[in-house]
Parts: sequence; C-alpha cells; structure tokens
Amino acid sequence: MKTLARGDLMNSVNSSALSFDRLWMPFTYYRDTLDYPPLVIKQGSGIYIFDKDGRSYIDCIGSWWVSIFGHNHPQITGALRDQLDNLEHVMMAGMISEPALNLSHLLAELLPKELSRIFYSDNGSTAVEIALKIALQYHALRGSNRSEFVSFDGGYHGDTLGAMSVGMIPQYHSLFHDRFKKHHFAHSPYCYRCPANQNPSSCNADCMDSLEKILELRHDHIAACIFEPMVQGAAGMRIYPAKVLSRIFSICKKYDILTIADEVAMGFGRTGTMFACDNAGEVPDIMCLAKGLTGGYLPMAVTVVKESVFDEFRGDYTTERILNHGHTFTGNPLASSAACAALTLLKQYNIPSSLKKTSKIMAEELEKFREFEIVGDIRSIGMIGAIELVKDRKTKEKLPAELRIPFKIAQKALDFGLLLRPLGNVIYFMPPYIITAEQIKNMLFLTHCVFKEVIHDELSDLR
Ligand SMILES: Cc1ncc(COP(=O)(O)O)c(C=O)c1O
Repeated sequence: MKTLARGDLMNSVNSSALSFDRLWMPFTYYRDTLDYPPLVIKQGSGIYIFDKDGRSYIDCIGSWWVSIFGHNHPQITGALRDQLDNLEHVMMAGMISEPALNLSHLLAELLPKELSRIFYSDNGSTAVEIALKIALQYHALRGSNRSEFVSFDGGYHGDTLGAMSVGMIPQYHSLFHDRFKKHHFAHSPYCYRCPANQNPSSCNADCMDSLEKILELRHDHIAACIFEPMVQGAAGMRIYPAKVLSRIFSICKKYDILTIADEVAMGFGRTGTMFACDNAGEVPDIMCLAKGLTGGYLPMAVTVVKESVFDEFRGDYTTERILNHGHTFTGNPLASSAACAALTLLKQYNIPSSLKKTSKIMAEELEKFREFEIVGDIRSIGMIGAIELVKDRKTKEKLPAELRIPFKIAQKALDFGLLLRPLGNVIYFMPPYIITAEQIKNMLFLTHCVFKEVIHDELSDLR
C-alpha cells in the first residue's frame, strides 16, 4: 500500500480553494458565515495569530480564554514534542501515564490543600457535569435524595445538557430549560444593573438575599450551589465584589449546601489571584478548572473535591461507592504533558503577582473609552477588561440589537489587526498573561480607533 509522505495530505487540500459549506460554526448565524467568511488561521506566536495570507492579529481574548501564555510557547510546545516521542495515549483505568500522574502532583501544589482529590476530564462543560454528578451521588450515598441545584441568572457553565440546566443566559438556555427539569436561579450579581438597586459604595451584597430566600425554602432538596466566582464571564464579564462571593459562601454554609465553584474560566490567575475564590479567602467543596490548564494547547479539565466529599466514595466492590464516570481520553498523556508545562510556567512567570502591573495598565487605558457616549460601563479585574455599550448612558437603555454594533466593532477590529469577540453588548479583553505593557497600550489604542470608526458610522442610526 502506498503510504502518504508527511505533508501529502495537506498539499492535496489547498485551503485557499476551499469553501466553508461543509462547516457548522459554533455560536454563529449561518448567514454570517456567508457574509463574513471565517479567517483561516495558519500560525500563532505569542499574543499574535497569523492568517493564511500572513496578516497578524492580536489575540485579545486568548482564543476563548485559554491561551494564557500565548501561542506556540516554546516550553509547552517542547513538552508536547517530547511526549509525542513516547506515548500519545493510554486509557486511565488500571493504569495511568506518567504525565497524568505528574500533573496531579503539580496541581496539588497549586490548589488549596483542602481540595485534595482530582478527577480528570476533557473540557469545561464536562468538568461541570462531573461536579453535578458528584454532588447528586454524594447526597444519595448519605441517604438523602437531593436532586435540585441552585445557581444564578447570568450564569454559564457549558453547553452540555446538565451544565445548561444550571446556566441562565436566556438566548443560550431558555429553549432547553423549557424542555427539562428546572433548577433555581438567584439574582445575577450584575453590579452595573444591580438587582438590589445599590451602587459600589452602598453595596452590602443584598443581591444575594435572593439566594437566601431560595435556600430558606428548598435547602432540604438542594444538592449544591454552583456559581462563577468573581466574574460571570459569558454573561458579559459581570465582575462582582468579593463581599458578594463571601456572602454566597456564608449563606451556603448556613444551610449546609455544597458549593461548586466553576473556575473553568477564572482559575489559574485570571482575576489576579490563583483561583477566583481566593479573592474571598474561601475554598469551595468542589472546584472545576479547564481553559488555561493546558495553556490552550489541548482540551483538558479537572474537577477537584474536598476529602470530605471524596470520603463518601471510598468503597469496595460490594458497595455503590464508585463514581461511574470517565471519558475515553481522560488523563490523555499529551494534554497532561501540556498541562504540566503550563503549570510550571505559572510558577516560572510568578503568576498571579507578576500580572499586577499589566492589569493596572489595562484598567487605566480602558478609562479612555469613557469619551464615547455609548460606553455605559467599564469594568476590570486582574487580566480582564470589559466595556459595556448602551444606547443611553443615563438610562442604561440597551443598544438596539438590530444595529449589531458590537458585531460591527469586531468585524472592523480585524482590519486593525485585532481578534475581538463581543459577548452581547460587551467588548472585552482577556489577553495572554505574557502581553507587555506596550502591547496592552497598542491593543487598546487600536480598539479605540475601531470604536471611532464604527461609532462615527453608526451614530446617526442611533440617535
Ligand atoms: C465558567 C465556565 N464554565 C464552563 C464553561 C464550558 O467550558 P467548555 O467550553 O470547555 O466546555 C465555560 C466556557 O466558556 C465557562 O466560561
């Protein structure tokens, strides 16, 4: 049989001649794939990606928040190359690859010591599914039938059915909520549109009265409370104060409810602390981590639990004390070796302390966007910056959706060499941690130019 030489297959497929009509793009209207065909990206280096024609773009959002050390980092790439020479995959039951074992020790060094058991999986949604399953089974093993969850308006925990059942972003979730079991949703800690009508100086975490009410009524039925600590990411980077997070923990403690911190997006330094829960000095019963874990190289996630949770699962074959869960690629050696390299870089780069300077600069530079009347709110924490656009700054009236201003900003940004992707009416930045102060200034200067052009063109439609 003729074997293909390396590169033959790729050469037989000339990407510049290919259409997109075989693809179903995620989170994308079909019509837009025709009108705004996707860029074909060929290379990455540091904070930049390069398309097939050699044009460069700053990856302002770390490719959906995963690329924490930039693209093609020599240490992660090197670790993967070495691993490829040894073992691409082995199942994780009755055996484990060396990188997967090493990773558990590197993670244990970083995690709060109470979070002592580590379960591997493949992506953020799955890490959440596992957390929900663990919580349900934990109660069953203790002889109580708790089958409900409490979470928050504006919450996002992934796109699988279980994860969606505890998410509440209407355009993603409503249709599906109507079709399966409903859980409970407390108010979103959305400071810009505070559900308790407070402002930052008067905030007493009153928004969480709604959580307290739910638990008062249903605590006997509730298996766990799941939340995104400090920032509701997909809802539009809704950053909330540590006192609100503290109150979530204290209400859950009062009613003896398991806490699941979904740190899929915020873990590993993004909010300026290693884990977002550190902002409140709290340790959840269960924590989900993914995104930056492999530095954005390969899909991998972990669900970590306190020993007190794991204790319920200590059993032998005569018991039902087993978590019957596992994915074919659980503990994949390539992903594990990328993760080992990424966690080593966290130490080497002294994350999160070393991010202080660049996060301060990002926050300062963002203030320049206040000159645009359509900017309603500017918020930042750690290495996240967000700008919420409104029709009317005084009334906070939302932008008319049909004008698609955030979408137009993202399209125009490509002309300026920026990869942006808005969340609703929010333009946000989550660049790789390796971005320099000068690069931040440049990224925001270019975005400022984009705003000027788009807003100038659209202003007449707005007024
Ligand atoms: C907080 C949070 N949880 C879970 C997920 C789902 O992760 P994944 O897309 O890897 O399934 C995301 C994705 O953005 C997220 O932000």
